[in-house]
Amino acid sequence: MDLPVPDHVPPDLVFDFDVYTASELDQNPHRTMVELLQSNKVPPIFFSPHNGGHWVIVGADEGLEMLRDFERFSSDPQYNAMSRKPWTLPNLSDPPQHTDYRRIITPAFVPRSVAAMEDHLRILSGSLIDALLARGQCEFVEEIGQKFPVNVFLRMAGAPESDREQLVELTERAVRSPERSVRDAAGYELGEYVMKAYQERREKPGEDLLSMVLHGSFQGRPLNHDELLGMGLLLFLGGLDTVSSTMAFVMLFLGRNPEHYRQLVQDPSIIPAAVEELIRAHSVASVLRGVRADTEYFGIQFKQNDKLFFLTQVYGMDARRVEDPLRVDFSRPVSPHLGFGAGPHRCIGSHLARTEVRIFLEEWTRRIPSFTVAVDGDIRTRGGHVWSPIALPLAWPVH
Ligand code: HEM
Repeated sequence: MDLPVPDHVPPDLVFDFDVYTASELDQNPHRTMVELLQSNKVPPIFFSPHNGGHWVIVGADEGLEMLRDFERFSSDPQYNAMSRKPWTLPNLSDPPQHTDYRRIITPAFVPRSVAAMEDHLRILSGSLIDALLARGQCEFVEEIGQKFPVNVFLRMAGAPESDREQLVELTERAVRSPERSVRDAAGYELGEYVMKAYQERREKPGEDLLSMVLHGSFQGRPLNHDELLGMGLLLFLGGLDTVSSTMAFVMLFLGRNPEHYRQLVQDPSIIPAAVEELIRAHSVASVLRGVRADTEYFGIQFKQNDKLFFLTQVYGMDARRVEDPLRVDFSRPVSPHLGFGAGPHRCIGSHLARTEVRIFLEEWTRRIPSFTVAVDGDIRTRGGHVWSPIALPLAWPVH
């Protein structure tokens, strides 16, 4: 490894690990990272020389404290050079501005609003499963995982059903394409879709999420073009790959662990607790920050503009916080995880995400008493900002 390392980084904190392409993330990424941590091969905070050089925060205690400390560790892209354009909101802003942006969309995500969506989520889950039931097999990621959150967004945004195919295709390119230029181009195309949707809401006001943003007020004024774009994009993208990947990891685990699955089929009342434990062991999203000014933290010198990559995917598996972290146990009294982040930016959609996974599992267990992963060996996964199984073939008996 002959990549440059800045002078302020001690050599013993440098670890050759590319968060996007590390082979450790190609299969069983959670297990692999936990084993690396437990064997002390990586410290809780290390420096990766890849991708221009950045810190990686793997330890849950360190991550929690730093994510809460937004005064030192900023979400503003000026300190946080790993953020990709088009910039999204409210995630790429700091309090106090962030508080004002976030307030605009909060009403759509409070438990009462999510409860009002439950019937729709149930019908949606049921119809996606029913369409495949008689076939006895599916490729879960493409046929369910990716379709489900797009449909949820269509509903929340008051967008017509006829937009579904275009959005599924666009999403596919924005999220799955191996080439970054193709992904970026799809991001901009998505931006055009969102801006056109705002225009339609201007002409015909509604009560949907995009209308809420359009009529929202930031520091006493309406949002400008870039702010509308940023908010609209994150509302679409924030709940997309994250939900789809979570569902895929959950189904991979249940397909490979029939004893656990049987517990859910026999007693669906444990599904809410099981969802929490499954998310603990299979969190998917990482989080970015930048250092606002030179500072020392946990005995480490951070310099202004140092980039920080938080592997919140493994915070629920930190043995300092969770006993026997690799064991999935639906009867754990609490399933501590930071899979939805921490601090002021903690995921606004977490209640919706949990509800989506819960209702999906309720509908799946009702229809499919047993299923398996239809290939032997490890399922390939990809690293990066959202860890995810690349494809997941499932099979179940058809009577
Ligand atoms: C399992 C699914 C999900 C996971 C793992 C997840 C994860 C996260 C994480 C880790 C953050 C913190 C980002 C940061 O600190 O910079 C976040 C923020 C956010 N998420 Fe989620 N998310 C999920 C589902 C959703 C859904 C369904 C929506 C909405 C439809 C959503 C919308 C957002 C938004 C708008 C933010 C920004 C909040 C802020 O900056 O104040 N997420 N999410």
